[in-house]
Amino acid sequence: MATRLKNLTVFLSIWLLIGASVGSAQKMNNAPALAPDVHSYSNPQAVRATDIALDWTVLFDKKTLQGTATLSVARGNSSDKNAPLILDTRDLTIEKAETSGDGKNFKATAFKLGAADKILGAPLTIELPSGARFVRVYYSTSPNASGLQWLAPEQTAGKKQPFMFSQAQAIHARSFIPIQDSPQVRVTYSARVRTPSNLLAVMSAEGNSQTSRRGGDYTFKMTRAIPPYLIAIAVGDLQFQSLGKRTGVYTEPSMIERSAFELADTEKMVEATEKLFGEYRWGRYDLLVLPPSFPFGGMENPMLTFATPTILAGDKSLVSLVAHELAHSWSGNLVTNATWRDFWLNEGFTTYLERRIIEAVYGAPRREMEATLGRRSLEQEMLGLEDRDEILHVNLDGRDPDEGFTGVPYEKGALFLRYLEETVGREKFDRFVRNYFDAHAFQSITTETFVDYLQKNLIAQNPKVSIANVNEWVEKAGLPKNAPQPKSDAFAQVETQANNWLKNDITASGIRAKDWTTQEWLHFLTKLPTDIGADRLAELDRAFNLTKIGNSEIAFQWLMMSIRNNYAAANTRLEEFLTSIGRRKFVRPLYEELTKTPEGAARAAAIYAKARPGYHPITVASVDTILKWEKR
Ligand code: BES
Ligand code: ZN
Repeated sequence: MATRLKNLTVFLSIWLLIGASVGSAQKMNNAPALAPDVHSYSNPQAVRATDIALDWTVLFDKKTLQGTATLSVARGNSSDKNAPLILDTRDLTIEKAETSGDGKNFKATAFKLGAADKILGAPLTIELPSGARFVRVYYSTSPNASGLQWLAPEQTAGKKQPFMFSQAQAIHARSFIPIQDSPQVRVTYSARVRTPSNLLAVMSAEGNSQTSRRGGDYTFKMTRAIPPYLIAIAVGDLQFQSLGKRTGVYTEPSMIERSAFELADTEKMVEATEKLFGEYRWGRYDLLVLPPSFPFGGMENPMLTFATPTILAGDKSLVSLVAHELAHSWSGNLVTNATWRDFWLNEGFTTYLERRIIEAVYGAPRREMEATLGRRSLEQEMLGLEDRDEILHVNLDGRDPDEGFTGVPYEKGALFLRYLEETVGREKFDRFVRNYFDAHAFQSITTETFVDYLQKNLIAQNPKVSIANVNEWVEKAGLPKNAPQPKSDAFAQVETQANNWLKNDITASGIRAKDWTTQEWLHFLTKLPTDIGADRLAELDRAFNLTKIGNSEIAFQWLMMSIRNNYAAANTRLEEFLTSIGRRKFVRPLYEELTKTPEGAARAAAIYAKARPGYHPITVASVDTILKWEKR
């Protein structure tokens, strides 16, 4: 009896083992079909990375990350059972590659680095002997890695310590990790990071020190499967301050007080978003305020949003950026675009959610102001776009996503969702959005998958929207006639003031702008005629001191107008702005505007010669193109 029971147990456990392994193999086979990704050389349909363990030493003197990446891999259902593993790389030096069946004993394997493409980098092909389940690559990054910026102490707020940060979206993870760099190849990751002992390392993962404790040896773990573009690291003289029970901010010590003040509403925003769209599934939500060369406004690295210091306006008026990056914790990080042509699923949803969060925390009038500014900037931008770039489901074949992205996925995408909200009613739409996040949580999906889900779960029950409407929004250029028109009473007042001044009914100092918010100032400035003339700008400047204004968004608008109208009194400020800030959204249009006249082009070249060494590689790539800058 006892032996029979024992036999049965053995039999059962063998059966369970087989069952479990068949189960996981099937899971792999049943994984959502992969969409063709023109921006990756990798072959996830044949072999797929599921986890990456990083071991890095941060070498500031060499501007290099050196170490290993150990990938867990699983074979897919491809007919080629001997397929090698193909990874994306850019400017990596590969020392050796090893494989292992058990994760403990590694043996050298053959690898080959292919020819480098300017946009995509170079494929790294690694032979996999049968039974290989782990692949370890020994490598180091280039000092020019497109996804890293190495700052000298002078480029930081504190001026004493160096600083390094990554920016992987869209296709820069491959410049610091050999990886299947497609947003549909989701991975968990862990990292051990060694730094100089007086610096703090933080990552988009669990393990960030909340005591600012240093030591130079840090470990991190991201247990949720994320797309590679969300792997992020920063190292510097960082301090932490708590903002709420699961929120906080990291930045250099001299910036911590201003940052904590500006970001004080973060916890409230998380609560508001949970109420609208369901549970926040990432544990903590912290922010990192970077030095001013950070090329974007914000980057939604999971658990740790990266942000430009240009949002520190002193009056919390630019925190829609926090709402935006936080919203990506649902749209983007939880439900991810499968390829970069589906980017609008990330950014359109996020811009829509951002404004819903703003409404919940600051009221509907603020949402309407920001939505109005958004629609207007979209209309302005589209005047200069080719038809193909006005399509949400954009074709990026042969193009660098860094240069292919415009305001269209953001603002047209948000208008499309607002159109759905207005047509079916908020209650139904909110339920749909919540269910959409639940149904696709931790998945990467294409536009087709979204449209199919929309058809089955919203359109089928609502005769007011048709699939033809949807296709017009998603596949056609321009804005459909039924596009929502946000409306702001406050802005109507601003326009009245602007018109009265333009008609000379009132003087500039008679404009009642004392209580204007940042949004009202932006509306005022963008409503003025583009060729208003330098004398008119001088009048405004005397009344409101706009050349000296510290708010980065207002300063940017003002400088654009100053260039267009040859307002020389702003020249020094323009140079100061361009040499101290590297945020591409500001820098790129200013250089573009300058190049429209020969004198402007000469000034642009002179300013750029000074500014270029301090800019991030992504900003450099954009401005080099605008100014036809030759590497000297
Ligand atoms: N994910 C983007 C930033 C991004 C997009 C980086 C594409 C690389 C490629 C981020 O969420 C974003 O949209 N940032 C905006 C701010 C936002 C408030 C519109 C930015 O950086 O200006
Ligand atoms: Zn975004």
